[in-house]
Amino acid sequence: MTKIKHGKVLVFDSGMGGLTVAREIQALAPDLAVDYAADSGFFPYGDKSDADLRARLPEIAARLAEAAQPDVFVIACNTASTLALDEVRAVLDIPVVGTVPAIKPAAALTRTGTIGLLATPGTVRRAYTAKLIEDFAQDVRVILHGSVDLVRMAEETASGGAVALDAFRAAQAPLFEADGGDEIDTIVLACTHFPLIRGELAATVPHAVTFIDSGEAIARQTFRVLPENLPTERTGGKVWLSSDPSDQARLVEVSRRFGFMDVHALSA
Ligand code: DGL
Repeated sequence: MTKIKHGKVLVFDSGMGGLTVAREIQALAPDLAVDYAADSGFFPYGDKSDADLRARLPEIAARLAEAAQPDVFVIACNTASTLALDEVRAVLDIPVVGTVPAIKPAAALTRTGTIGLLATPGTVRRAYTAKLIEDFAQDVRVILHGSVDLVRMAEETASGGAVALDAFRAAQAPLFEADGGDEIDTIVLACTHFPLIRGELAATVPHAVTFIDSGEAIARQTFRVLPENLPTERTGGKVWLSSDPSDQARLVEVSRRFGFMDVHALSA
């Protein structure tokens, strides 16, 4: 039984993906106040240059923390965390929790010794990701594939749009067509958008695999770093957007479905 803590957590992503992390935090600790933030004005992160993201992330994080006044800031985005976790920590005076690909648990889980990693192109090329593989999956073959299409398909699917199953099959096919791909038994969903389409991905793999993500681990870490004895009266349920909410009908709708009802534009 987890002990009870109070306080406010701000969960941040480029778009809808971080909602999959917010849901894990709420499941683990229903007493916390949780707000959600999406950098909708800069979405998607997966195809942005490192320099652009490094400039953007500390700036948007500082503005969001100022607006939402959280006790913990969760970067619910692999693409951002694997690049600029230190830069964000440097501008905030509260704990910052990052999201990194679940390579360590996947390496422990695989029986065939081959894992797949599905992420954005940004996360796939990061030195941080290479280091995780070197540290935790040295004896395992890791096949990486980056796709921004899948991020867009996740948003489309989450907001009720129809995406043909063949598109999911095609988007993850490069994992299985790579050398050794027929041996993959575990796939790391290394983008927080992808748990939104876990069912579609599972329905279109050429053979049975286990999908794993970092959501639960991030929730546990968030709870761990949250200070004790914070005021009990904080309220959550807000969603902060970095672009005009009237241009973000789908994001607003999906956020509401996850319980974030009160929409705010982040002022410049
Ligand atoms: N949800 C983000 C991640 O975990 C990235 C999506 C995007 O490309 O903006 O990497």
